[in-house]
Amino acid sequence: KAAPTRRAFLAATGLAAVGGLALPAILRPAVAAPEQTLSLRPAPGTAPLVGAPYEPTPVWCFNDSLPGPEIRLRQGQRVRIAVENGLAEETGIHWHGLRVPNAMDGVPHLTQKPIAPGGQFSYEFEVPDAGTFWYHPHQRSSEQVGRGLYGPLIVEEREPPRVDRDLTWILDDWRLTEKAQISDDFGNLHDASHAGRFGNILTVNGRQPQPLEARGGERIRLRLINAANARIFGLDFAGHRPQIIALDGQPVPPHAPPEGVVVVGPGMRTDLILDMTGAAGSRHQVTDRYYPRQTYQVTEIAYADRPLRDNAPDWSLALPPNPLAEPDLDAATRHEVVFNGGMMGGRMMQEMGGPMASMPMARMQRMMQDGRMWFVNGIAADGHAMAPVLTLERGRTYIIAMANATAFPHPMHLHGHAFRVISRDGAPTPHREWRDTVLMTPGERVEIALVADNPGDWMFHCHILEHQAAGMSAVVRVA
Ligand code: C2O
Ligand code: CU
Repeated sequence: KAAPTRRAFLAATGLAAVGGLALPAILRPAVAAPEQTLSLRPAPGTAPLVGAPYEPTPVWCFNDSLPGPEIRLRQGQRVRIAVENGLAEETGIHWHGLRVPNAMDGVPHLTQKPIAPGGQFSYEFEVPDAGTFWYHPHQRSSEQVGRGLYGPLIVEEREPPRVDRDLTWILDDWRLTEKAQISDDFGNLHDASHAGRFGNILTVNGRQPQPLEARGGERIRLRLINAANARIFGLDFAGHRPQIIALDGQPVPPHAPPEGVVVVGPGMRTDLILDMTGAAGSRHQVTDRYYPRQTYQVTEIAYADRPLRDNAPDWSLALPPNPLAEPDLDAATRHEVVFNGGMMGGRMMQEMGGPMASMPMARMQRMMQDGRMWFVNGIAADGHAMAPVLTLERGRTYIIAMANATAFPHPMHLHGHAFRVISRDGAPTPHREWRDTVLMTPGERVEIALVADNPGDWMFHCHILEHQAAGMSAVVRVA
């Protein structure tokens, strides 16, 4: 049933043997056929978010499963994903972090027409980068993602580092009523103007977190994906020394997280190597301590009585690099982007130079009356289709200097590209990590650098989905 690959096509025509010889153009398929066809159907369903004695909670999910089915591809593979919309509203599916052609990016009204209820759209692309990615709708994301539409998308390295187990945790929180129903106050003004929609229960892979059963000496690769609308996680694997090997799917020199806390903001991913060094039979808490006054237990690690091996293995941790264009900082053009808006205390307002140092008060008030609370260079977006905030020339290097002039953290996500995070508050970052989503703390200045090598109109937005809906969204054009 799989469509033939280009190699199979060449073999079948007896042409593979010509090796390096150029073929006449007519014999070359314009694009390789997909090696795999998958189907996704977003639709209402149910999931046991809380577990007994509660009935399963009505959710929206892919293929009757929460999270949606894991899409697992090999680096460089071409895939076709047929989406059929089983929702009662329009949608479009975005492949978060994948560098796909613009028309496949899944942003309704910007890169494609929305998929109508009952309608279909086929996405087809190659995956240039190995790593941990995810997929989710990009239409009314606060509610569509918030009700459970998301799934993992893993692209395997050609030569993955050796581990005993490769696990994925999709983290999410849910705002449930006492009857374990999703509270339907999506888009309320308080969430929109403050830190976004926080939940009151936590799930890992769509369920109450189960203990991580481990054996001494075991090496686990743990892929963390934050699918929550607004909650930033800061996981502490007390008693263990996790090594971060990739951020947003992109390899980074292996290093321990600062202060031992693995911070993953909405939309972001972190790949860890966890060497299971606990004693036989011991139990260890995994806590979330991002928000200082809200530390709570996420799950625990439970050790079996017999170790797998006596010591942690000494296998190499490093991941092979992805084929990203290296920014040429000496030749870079610099742009500034300022984020304003949201609720602010009076002192904050003063320190930031007034409510919006750069924009007229009357225009701001008009937009806020509309529920548009957040501003990117003075504009609060209303939907996806809009004039670009930046136009970048294809193939050139850019430094985008971003300033968070608000009282809230924001995970800022750029589509279609990975960028290096080169400085924070003027200091060079130690790892110059590649990312597609960068978390900015209140008042923070962050510089990112990228080669604008993927043509098209790309979303650039806060991944706190209520902020995105309330205006914290812009378009970056690469032409
Ligand atoms: Cu994960 Cu524009 O989104
Ligand atoms: Cu935000």
